[in-house]
Amino acid sequence: MTSVVRTLPSTDTDPALRVVVVNGSPSRPSKTMGLVSAVLDTLGGMLPVEVSRIDVYRLGPGFTGTIERDEAPADVEAKLRLAEEADLLIAAVPVYRGSYPGMFKHFFDLVDQYALANKPVLLAATGGGDHHALVLEHALRPLFAFFQALTVPVAFFASAGDFDGTTLLNPRVHGRIEVGLADVVDLLRARATGRPQAHAEVPRPAQLLH
Ligand SMILES: Cc1cc2nc3c(=O)[nH]c(=O)nc-3n(C[C@H](O)[C@H](O)[C@H](O)COP(=O)(O)O)c2cc1C
Repeated sequence: MTSVVRTLPSTDTDPALRVVVVNGSPSRPSKTMGLVSAVLDTLGGMLPVEVSRIDVYRLGPGFTGTIERDEAPADVEAKLRLAEEADLLIAAVPVYRGSYPGMFKHFFDLVDQYALANKPVLLAATGGGDHHALVLEHALRPLFAFFQALTVPVAFFASAGDFDGTTLLNPRVHGRIEVGLADVVDLLRARATGRPQAHAEVPRPAQLLH
């Protein structure tokens, strides 16, 4: 788990948003985390955030051997609670065989079925090519629909050609991140004030399609 400090300072009236990234990639370095890094850089410029990351592939045999939540060792239980108590969850995966990796699903199989209800969740994925971009809509979004989570409508996908190494270069994906995060900020402010917000002034280009 890592904390990221790229953010605006929090204040008494504007406390840091607790963002938890659930990382479904085993890679180091990772394109998936390169995409998330671009998301966090942009989000940290909009709001004070405090970021934690759960690397599901690094949770070890105590995690892979847990079948029921009440058998989870204390370190795994702490990670599950961290995700359940986030203000904003970022679910980020590489596409594996047209879906999310099994280890990522195993983490969410242990999350309490009501803990994510109404929780804002951002979806992000990377793939070898663009053909499986709809993994966001056909695999990730239904998983979080089960939890009755509030998935943000604009989700983020990038493929190998969008990166230099693990640095996201494609301006179209960066533009999509801006739009999606403006929606997140609107949503969070509306929840905080109880009032709908004027819509963010971020243009929505036609090429917002995946
Ligand atoms: C086991 C495995 C299965 C994969 N299956 C797919 C796939 O179905 N579709 C796809 O576009 N990419 C697939 N890929 C490629 C990865 O999704 C892609 O390289 C991703 O960007 C890797 O992210 P990472 O650097 O965070 O690991 C697969 C890779 C692996 C290792």
